[in-house]
Amino acid sequence: MKKVVLAYSGGLDTSCAITWLKDKGYDVIAFMADVGQGEDFDAIKKRALKTGASKVYVVDMKKEFVLDYIFPAVKAGAIYEGKYLLATALSRPLIAKHQVRIAHQEKATAIAHGCTGKGNDQVRFEVTSYLLDPTLEIIAPVRIWEFKSREEEMDYAKEKKIPINVTKKSPYSIDINLYGRSIECGVLEDPWVEPPEEIYYLTKNPLKAPNKPTYIDLEFVKGLPVKINGKSYSPIALLEKLNTIGGNNGVGRVDMIENRLVGIKSRENYENPAGTIIYIAHKELESLVLDRETIHQKEAVSHKYAELTYYGLWETPVKKQLDAYINKTQETVTGTIRL
Ligand code: ARG
Repeated sequence: MKKVVLAYSGGLDTSCAITWLKDKGYDVIAFMADVGQGEDFDAIKKRALKTGASKVYVVDMKKEFVLDYIFPAVKAGAIYEGKYLLATALSRPLIAKHQVRIAHQEKATAIAHGCTGKGNDQVRFEVTSYLLDPTLEIIAPVRIWEFKSREEEMDYAKEKKIPINVTKKSPYSIDINLYGRSIECGVLEDPWVEPPEEIYYLTKNPLKAPNKPTYIDLEFVKGLPVKINGKSYSPIALLEKLNTIGGNNGVGRVDMIENRLVGIKSRENYENPAGTIIYIAHKELESLVLDRETIHQKEAVSHKYAELTYYGLWETPVKKQLDAYINKTQETVTGTIRL
């Protein structure tokens, strides 16, 4: 039997994908990435096995995500189209890397994901997989299966007795990890519609934030944040702490029209309290310690770095070359910024 490693979320699409792939003759191994989305992995794991996965992997990638993905983007000052700090985009090459690793470990010949044909994530998963191992077959069930609507998919789930989560499905498409939260679809598709308060989870409405300023001193060593108000934090704890401080002050809400990789414009909303604080403080520190020509040159590199990240080209030689350049610029980016 051919084996496939499916990036599984526990939602309707990837649950149906397990059964659909099995019907196509595959032995399905479900794979879940913990990038700090705070889910009940045990419950989801049980559901995957009940649906028919022969094995389930849950991989804790939080530390690696911060150290090898978020922090390099912080040093680079990566921001897409001037507004998006790339939380979702940064997680995809990491998830794909582990998916390929598990495929090798399990001697699987294919990987599968539950992305649709409209978004960026399908490209990021597939390009990364292809860069790491071009011999792996890539299957995107949602893009090719016969269901024309969610209702048809639900009927299929019922017919095949696929256990699906009964809680009401959110009208939004949401992706969350340690670095931020992305919200799209539903009423947000109309750019005239003010984002309803219900879409936010990490940030308070600025109207409900304290009426007096919260001050923080953020200390960096070689371009990376290490201390808040003189106290050291581990990389994960530092992001969590800044998410709380920023969130309480309504920091990090973004509302934008974004140019997707696939040629579609889309309305996107983001919450990124920690990332926003770090991005601003880092830029202020650089303005104090870097020389004019480095600052100007680095602007061009940041722009390119954000583009490559957004396009899923994290594993390319040019991205690694830019990392070398950026690391060189960060040698003197040490000091404390008060916000
Ligand atoms: N537009 C953002 C990006 O391409 C966010 C995507 C969010 N993904 C999702 N499944 N809701 O990076």
